[in-house]
Amino acid sequence: MNQTGKNAAAVGLDVGTSHIVVARQSDEGFRFESQLNGFVDIPYAKLTEKVLQMENIPHCVDGSRIAVQGNESGQLAELLKVEPRRPMSHGFLNPSEPESLERISRIIGALCGIAGDGEGPLYFSVPAVSIGEQDHWTYHEATLRQVLGELGYAAKSITEGLAIVYSEMESSNYTGIGISCGGGLCNVCLAYLSVPVMSFSIPKAGDFIDRNVASVTGERANSIRLIKEACFHFNGNFADKIHQALGVYYDDMIGTLVATIKDQFQSCRGLPPLGRPIPLVLSGGSAIPRGFKDRFKAILKESDFPVPISEVRMAEDPLHATARGALVAAMIE
Ligand SMILES: Nc1ncnc2c1ncn2[C@@H]1O[C@H](COP(=O)(O)OP(=O)(O)O)[C@@H](O)[C@H]1O
Ligand SMILES: [Mg+2]
Repeated sequence: MNQTGKNAAAVGLDVGTSHIVVARQSDEGFRFESQLNGFVDIPYAKLTEKVLQMENIPHCVDGSRIAVQGNESGQLAELLKVEPRRPMSHGFLNPSEPESLERISRIIGALCGIAGDGEGPLYFSVPAVSIGEQDHWTYHEATLRQVLGELGYAAKSITEGLAIVYSEMESSNYTGIGISCGGGLCNVCLAYLSVPVMSFSIPKAGDFIDRNVASVTGERANSIRLIKEACFHFNGNFADKIHQALGVYYDDMIGTLVATIKDQFQSCRGLPPLGRPIPLVLSGGSAIPRGFKDRFKAILKESDFPVPISEVRMAEDPLHATARGALVAAMIE
């Protein structure tokens, strides 16, 4: 299937707990733009407002404060020694954040803009529906559709794991296991000839790692996140307690992920006979540290995995794979 050149105005949107990413087609292939899905309150000052405007930083003045949204919020929170506020947690709109809807609408608006004439179709990513989470999922999905509807898009959703398959598995005719290890969740999808056969998520991902390392080291989770993103890798001599603890909770996340995939495979009745070994693709921000793939493969090997895997590979562009897959879905609509 030729993925480019169709539906030139199609849009793919990854609504993740950590990042919101928009993908569009460009002359060179695909074009991405992203914002951190967070915000921080700073005191209002006329000059601050002016600087934010000049720097094109998404923000919103509200009486005596300014809510700074998106990429700049992580660094500002660090300078102010606070945790950024988060419109989403564990893959869904955050029920403990009273401004979640207002803030996420602004971030999505800043990235997608108002739909021009004939713009779209737009596909946005949602987590897999987990057992016991159906009602929560319904609210999340419908609300995002509404937010995008207000911007003029007739939006449809695609589960995150399937988006990874659409993005990365053209070479195996969209057969294989797509995994996205993000901030709030790890999402998994097994697809057979592009049909999602099994999808699920686990609530252990980057935020879980940051929160737990913060609690055993006495740091803030946001500070741990910045350290992890700047320099964590596997198989190093752990220079300090933070890196050692990051290794422990990374192993915990990968172990849970592999064990859950195995359980789900074993309990999934009516799984089609796959015939031959299938590929597995890893993506998402939490899969970026050097050595992640090898650690995943080692844990997979120890697990006596029930399905033969032909290869484990990294997505070409781990932070953009979900948005790219959503765009592929929109292009072939
Ligand atoms: N270079 C990096 N090294 C390690 N972790 C990273 C890196 N970049 C991003 N992350 C982590 O990946 C997670 C976000 O991944 P992302 O795929 O954007 O998640 P989501 O789908 O939840 O928005 C966060 O926990 C973040 O700290
Ligand atoms: Mg994601």
